[in-house]
Amino acid sequence: MGYPHKPHEKETVVLSEYFGDAEARSYDGWTKRGGYKALKTVLEMGPSDVIEIVKASGLRGRGGAGFPTGLKWSFMPKEKSKPHYLCCNADESEPGTFKDREIMRWTPHALIEGCAIAQYAIQAEITYIYIRGEFTGPLRVMQSALDEAYERGALGPDAMGSGKRLDMYIHRAAGAYICGEETAMMNSIEGRRGNPRIKPPFPAAAGVFGMPTTINNVETLAAVPHIINRGPEWYKSLCLGNERSVGTKLFSVCGHVQRPGNYEVTMGFPLGELIDDMCGGVPSGRTLKACIPGGSSVPILNKEETESCILDYEGCVEKGTMLGSGGVIVFDDSADMVYQVMRLARFYAHESCGQCTQCREGTAWTVRIMERILAGQGEMKDLDLLLDLSHQMTGTTICVLSDSCAAPVESGIKKFRDEFEAYIVGSREPIMAAAG
Ligand SMILES: Cc1cc2nc3c(=O)[nH]c(=O)nc-3n(C[C@H](O)[C@H](O)[C@H](O)COP(=O)(O)O)c2cc1C
Repeated sequence: MGYPHKPHEKETVVLSEYFGDAEARSYDGWTKRGGYKALKTVLEMGPSDVIEIVKASGLRGRGGAGFPTGLKWSFMPKEKSKPHYLCCNADESEPGTFKDREIMRWTPHALIEGCAIAQYAIQAEITYIYIRGEFTGPLRVMQSALDEAYERGALGPDAMGSGKRLDMYIHRAAGAYICGEETAMMNSIEGRRGNPRIKPPFPAAAGVFGMPTTINNVETLAAVPHIINRGPEWYKSLCLGNERSVGTKLFSVCGHVQRPGNYEVTMGFPLGELIDDMCGGVPSGRTLKACIPGGSSVPILNKEETESCILDYEGCVEKGTMLGSGGVIVFDDSADMVYQVMRLARFYAHESCGQCTQCREGTAWTVRIMERILAGQGEMKDLDLLLDLSHQMTGTTICVLSDSCAAPVESGIKKFRDEFEAYIVGSREPIMAAAG
């Protein structure tokens, strides 16, 4: 996407309106564009009224699972016997996903304002914005915006002159994919190794430092000020398909397309149109082969499924995949699906925290078997072994990292079995060296 951002005519620009507009990064620039109005409004309301507005808007979490945001906030205890925390998940490490970093890079105050509103609604003393360590640019932008928000009185002991206290800290992560999983993130904030925790207890009961905690994704929180300013009915009306999936969503499109980048569309937008009309389709002379629509953790779609998939939570499930984080990875006919699947499995094997046997062993063995196949040393029974392994890696571990490895492997074998078999029968040249 070029900057300044010129949206495609089919985009519905809400979160990305000021992408590329450097002036919007400053406190004055942001307030000139209507910023911090929503926070001021909210601070004059009761916290539960704010939760009701977000519930009524139909906003669902953009971090992957699509859990209703207002409902999640309502799980926080109403009786305040302990401190509450909000954690903003800005760890964004899912392969193919690059939207949260752009929100932070261009509209840091939108995120700070969204966090402040959520913090007030759930009656949290502190917000931690947990930013992926490698995001040095967005980190700098966020820290200077946060400093400015304090200096100008939007945050601190008398936030927006309301007499209410709002405090926020940036926590720089150390670059592990697993720390994006909410309970691993809480351990990491506490200074422990980023291993996921067993649930229950759920974070709203015992989260960071054992206290009631809500975790939300960057894109989820950045949408909140718009909902407050323009009303829940307006947000709900942004819907092209299923009314259970509303609002706009940023899709990060990469791989074999002519114009990769972030595109903001209304929920229910057709995936085929996103790839062809907005991203210019696959390179000339090539044809579409496959697509992973929700970041690397979701099942792969074949050409026909891609062309008929509707981009909302239900539309993706209908095609046997998930909307996930909205990282759309496109493959044309030049892609070697066996190699692509192996690369994804390698990522998960590298990022497994190692706590659960099915994940630690399952991801590593998946890679070994895939490498064996790519070296021309595979056997037909390896495909059944991979499917069996994937089955045992699904729904059996503390978090879903091993499920995420299984999804592309299982769908890859089911949909592109001929490519796997070609390596096994020798009709395709090996592309990896045999293990010694
Ligand atoms: C291995 C793993 C990695 C994850 N990484 C992220 C991430 O980088 N960012 C994110 O928002 N959610 C990530 N999630 C999902 C979070 O656990 C959590 O569901 C999400 O932050 C909740 O926010 P939401 O309700 O606003 O979607 C990850 C989950 C898993 C299992």
